[in-house]
Amino acid sequence: MLDSFGREINYLRLSITDRCNLRCRYCMPEDGVPPTAHDDLLCYEELLRVAAAAVSLGIDRFKITGGEPLVRRGCTDFIRALKALPGVRQVTLTTNGLLLVPLLDELSNAALDGVNISLDTLNNAQYQSLTRRAHTADEVLHAVRQCATRLPTKVNAVLLPETADQLIPLAELAQALPIDVRFIERMPLGTGENAQTVDADAALTRLRTRWPDLKSVHEPRGNGPARYFHAPGMQGCIGLIDAVSHGFCARCNRMRLTSTGLLKPCLCYDQGVELRPLLRGGADDTTLRDAIRAAILQKPAAHCFAQRENITEHKSMNQIGG
Ligand code: GTP
Ligand code: 5AD
Ligand code: SF4
Repeated sequence: MLDSFGREINYLRLSITDRCNLRCRYCMPEDGVPPTAHDDLLCYEELLRVAAAAVSLGIDRFKITGGEPLVRRGCTDFIRALKALPGVRQVTLTTNGLLLVPLLDELSNAALDGVNISLDTLNNAQYQSLTRRAHTADEVLHAVRQCATRLPTKVNAVLLPETADQLIPLAELAQALPIDVRFIERMPLGTGENAQTVDADAALTRLRTRWPDLKSVHEPRGNGPARYFHAPGMQGCIGLIDAVSHGFCARCNRMRLTSTGLLKPCLCYDQGVELRPLLRGGADDTTLRDAIRAAILQKPAAHCFAQRENITEHKSMNQIGG
């Protein structure tokens, strides 16, 4: 359906847990966030009901997020059931990759359409410092390589001042493997509230020192806001997600459901419609659909990252789903 600014809303991010096996500095506080009681999470049946109602409003692409979605038991069965719902066109997953390799067979059998793997640095010491855990970048890189042989794969790297030396090494992955590597401007949300952002255009200028012929790709890739570039010899593309410096809200196509059932119209504002009371209070399908429609109609024109005092979203990213 169209929102009140004429944008077609066809994509829903479903966060299935706020738990994570990492503690990335820009995403989650060191001690985590108070764990959500299992009863407060939407169960998979409730998520499927929301998805079916969303399909009836024209939403046919779903992104599974967290926290780290693969820490929730039954995630692959849920993905299979979601992909099998009538009218669902695409289901993709955003993960840190640590639990991915043993699940690749199941996920590809569940007809998952693609995987985005978060990897901000190839340097193991930097990875451990950023994620505050003992896992290594090598483990994630192994998952990226394995995944790329089975499913369309992208790497997501948040642009951070402390990993500036990793820009070209990470981008080289798009040269060496058939994957897209996307650089994301850090948004002033959650534990990144007061952080400085590295500007995507500055990153592009640096990338052109390695690939002088980097050209914009005009065909759409994926459903997200990334702008893509390609140079001769690259197997994949390089993408920039520049919410802060450029903004792509005029083309926004998405809604977000938190793991506790808040349907959020925009990342930047703490506004939305709580679906859990409806799901648990016996609401019929029409009532559920009307609530989703009402949330879509609340979508604002744009974020307000440039006027930080107007940001009303203070949850951490793992509670929102990125
Ligand atoms: P695909 O390209 O279809 O895989 O989708 P995607 O890029 O939306 O997926 P992904 O989950 O990998 O998102 C990457 C990151 O981009 C998110 O975690 C956010 O940091 C950022 N992002 C995605 N969508 C939005 C959005 O609507 N607004 C803003 N401001 N940032 C977004
Ligand atoms: N700004 C931009 N991206 C972020 N992510 C988490 N927090 C932020 C932030 N403040 C990214 C993760 C992952 C995706 C789901 O969201 O690194 O790639
Ligand atoms: Fe859409 Fe809000 Fe993201 Fe802008 S900031 S693209 S309106 S979700």
